[in-house]
Amino acid sequence: HLSPVITVDGPSGVGKGTLAMQLADALGWHFLDSGSLYRLTGLSAHNQQIDFANHQQLADVAAHLDVQFLRDSQGGLQILLASEDVTAEIRTEQVGNLASQVAPVAEVRQALFQRQRDFQLPPGLVADGRDMGTVVFPGAELKLFLTASAEERAKRRYIQLKEKGVDVSIARLAEEVRQRDERDTNRSIAPLCPADDAVMIDSTEMTIEEVFESAMTYVRDRG
Ligand code: C5P
Repeated sequence: HLSPVITVDGPSGVGKGTLAMQLADALGWHFLDSGSLYRLTGLSAHNQQIDFANHQQLADVAAHLDVQFLRDSQGGLQILLASEDVTAEIRTEQVGNLASQVAPVAEVRQALFQRQRDFQLPPGLVADGRDMGTVVFPGAELKLFLTASAEERAKRRYIQLKEKGVDVSIARLAEEVRQRDERDTNRSIAPLCPADDAVMIDSTEMTIEEVFESAMTYVRDRG
């Protein structure tokens, strides 16, 4: 028997990672941040000076990622690549761009497919990404799809960056968010779209706590 899975999909900056981690903690389940695997593949390929046009080599990198996911003492996720802490580095805009270059490559997605499936362990898994409910875990017992307006996601990102002392304009962030949505939604392979049986949660006017409470009502009602 396979362990149960809950999927949380949605566009970038919508808060899926936060929600998925909170759900995993509340249930005592495992957690998969699938976007980090694309980020790690991009970073690792870049570090190894691999030609991004060589899809087979990119897939080799993806298949052999030496990665460890650890929960740190504050409950955050710490990520080690070949024993080096890359937690902060993989969240940078630069690595986000590398990730979005490797994400449309079929061979990369194929190589990461089984790695992602390997996270399905007892007592259960909460997985977040773009295609968790549609491609990787189509049999998931609960599929959540989180949305929020591009303006709201840009605003949240602006506040985050401001806290880190990074100076950016909201208008520029909103433009970047729209471009990323466009790429993720219109790519031919594993495009961002809700599964037919997904539950939609629009978080535009909700706090993090309200999103969690809303998701938990579906978790309690499932199956
Ligand atoms: O979620 P995150 O922003 O970390 O994802 C980084 C990139 O990886 C995104 O641009 C997205 O295109 C890609 N990705 C994907 N499939 C997933 C998760 C992320 O293609 N399941």
